[in-house]
Amino acid sequence: MKKGNKISILGAGNVGATIAYTLTMDGMASEIVLVDINQNKAKGEAMDIIQGTALCPPVNIYAGDYSDIKDSDIVIVTLGCARKPGQSRIDLAQGNVNIIKSVMPQAVHYAPDAIYVVVSNPVDIITYTILKTTGLPESHVFGSGTLLDSSRLRESLARTLEISPKNIHAYMFGEHGDSAMVPWSLTSIGGIPLKTYLNSMREKNPDFKGLDLAAIEAEVHTSGAQVISLKGATFYAIALSARRICECILRDTNTVTTLSGMIHGAYGIDDVCLSLPFVLDCHGISGMNAPELTAQEQEKLLASANVLKQTIASLDI
Ligand code: 2OP
Repeated sequence: MKKGNKISILGAGNVGATIAYTLTMDGMASEIVLVDINQNKAKGEAMDIIQGTALCPPVNIYAGDYSDIKDSDIVIVTLGCARKPGQSRIDLAQGNVNIIKSVMPQAVHYAPDAIYVVVSNPVDIITYTILKTTGLPESHVFGSGTLLDSSRLRESLARTLEISPKNIHAYMFGEHGDSAMVPWSLTSIGGIPLKTYLNSMREKNPDFKGLDLAAIEAEVHTSGAQVISLKGATFYAIALSARRICECILRDTNTVTTLSGMIHGAYGIDDVCLSLPFVLDCHGISGMNAPELTAQEQEKLLASANVLKQTIASLDI
């Protein structure tokens, strides 16, 4: 009998194991199940975490198989191959689509009512695949999408402007990948629209050169690949993104955040999963905020949607 919050993680690789550790540190769940085809890996990760639970919030974390994910509130999907140096997320597409298609029937059989948080890359394509092949409700299946990219953008702006990232409201929309775009018109610093903020900085300091917005957007595009080139993989920031998503669900926070969800007509985009500002609460995705964009921003967002639609058309989903 489930007591408290139960979160199952499909995949006990770097990302899945770090998510389990991050959730444990936060006391987010009373039960965490790690499922992996490599059962020893899942067992080892669970043991390594549980041996520290005398020193952090208690959790019952264990390695299991699909039958153990029964009654999960949340299932986090991290299965599949991760990028290697030089690879794009889309390079992983068909291989990871095949893996996801092979395991999701079991997952849905045991946890038909769970909220599925997709992390596996290319996350927009995998989210679309799960929705199209399982028939699960769209409110219950979404990807971490550009939540991570938006965090990277906020950190980059914070570092440049010497302001806490907590005071920077900035989004990336579209693909979690090279075609993601920044709707700069929606960016604000401490509640001040970016354009106004930069003008005030110029008035205070005539030497202030302003921000190279294109360079900042490009930095966010390549920051995951940069980490991979240095340490072989990314897993901390994506784990913190997954933790944030679980917090919004389990604490019913009604948070507006960029997630990868199915789009039905917003900005003229249809039948593709990409990141826009969705409302996240205990029922999963409960709505979407589609703020007005400039003509140029809409054009870039549509281009990102087309990259994903062309990729989907090239795959056997
Ligand atoms: C990243 O950008 C894992 O795609 C994720 O780090």
